[in-house]
Amino acid sequence: MLERGGADMSKLGVPAQPEPEDGLWEDVSVPQSRARRNLWKGSMKDAAHDEYLHFRFEHLDPSQKPNTLRNWLGSLVEAKKREARPEVLNLIVPGNIGSGKTAAVCALGNEASEQGLVVRFVKHATYLTWRRPDSAPHNLTAHQVRERFVSCDLLILDELCGEMDMTATEFARKETIDLVDSRLAAGRATAFSTNLRSRSQPGSPGLGVVDILGERLLSRLEASAHLVRIQGPDRRRPAKPLDW
Ligand SMILES: Nc1ncnc2c1ncn2[C@@H]1O[C@H](COP(=O)(O)OP(=O)(O)O)[C@@H](O)[C@H]1O
Ligand SMILES: [Mg+2]
Repeated sequence: MLERGGADMSKLGVPAQPEPEDGLWEDVSVPQSRARRNLWKGSMKDAAHDEYLHFRFEHLDPSQKPNTLRNWLGSLVEAKKREARPEVLNLIVPGNIGSGKTAAVCALGNEASEQGLVVRFVKHATYLTWRRPDSAPHNLTAHQVRERFVSCDLLILDELCGEMDMTATEFARKETIDLVDSRLAAGRATAFSTNLRSRSQPGSPGLGVVDILGERLLSRLEASAHLVRIQGPDRRRPAKPLDW
């Protein structure tokens, strides 16, 4: 068979055709989509969240608003096809501990990675740790960590402002603002889950997300966001007290 300017590649010891990969070598999108899924699975494994890899929209309860998640994902996939900025950039998932937030946003990530988006998962506190010198897995530099989580089409940022209090360091604030702001500026979608309120409420003096992000950035984020509040009992807590 003659290829590439008429040279007979088989005589040069070069196979005339690429080795078939699962019999589908013609379709370059196949290995690409496999690579995308592996990026997503890798980020879930780095977060020790393998047990959330099986969740799909069909497994979620109505309280986890699977239809809202599905519709938003549809809009992100459409925007990517048109190489346009998604109309609604953010999904904010507040709710009490154990209500099913992580399962919901992981279902979103699982489905998104199968629909052609480059998706990554990270817990907010883990991101901050990994941004410290020599603290990331796989020998990633702090710069590579930022690049990874700023450049993906969809970031699942779990437990926004979790494990923080009023004494959050300047480092934590600066890094969080940089990540959120860079993704907004680049028009990249982010799904946030959080146990916190947006702004601390009269009578409940706890930290609000605003105390870390600041009012300006939080307002910009909210200006292009769906709110998916998940309320329900703590699924991890046994319904009846253990008898012992
Ligand atoms: N729809 C669901 N069906 C079955 N188990 C679920 C569902 N949603 C969440 N869970 C389980 O309930 C527990 C708490 O859910 P999780 O999403 O981790 O809560 P949160 O992130 O709000 O604290 C986890 O063990 C999770 O696997
Ligand atoms: Mg969670």
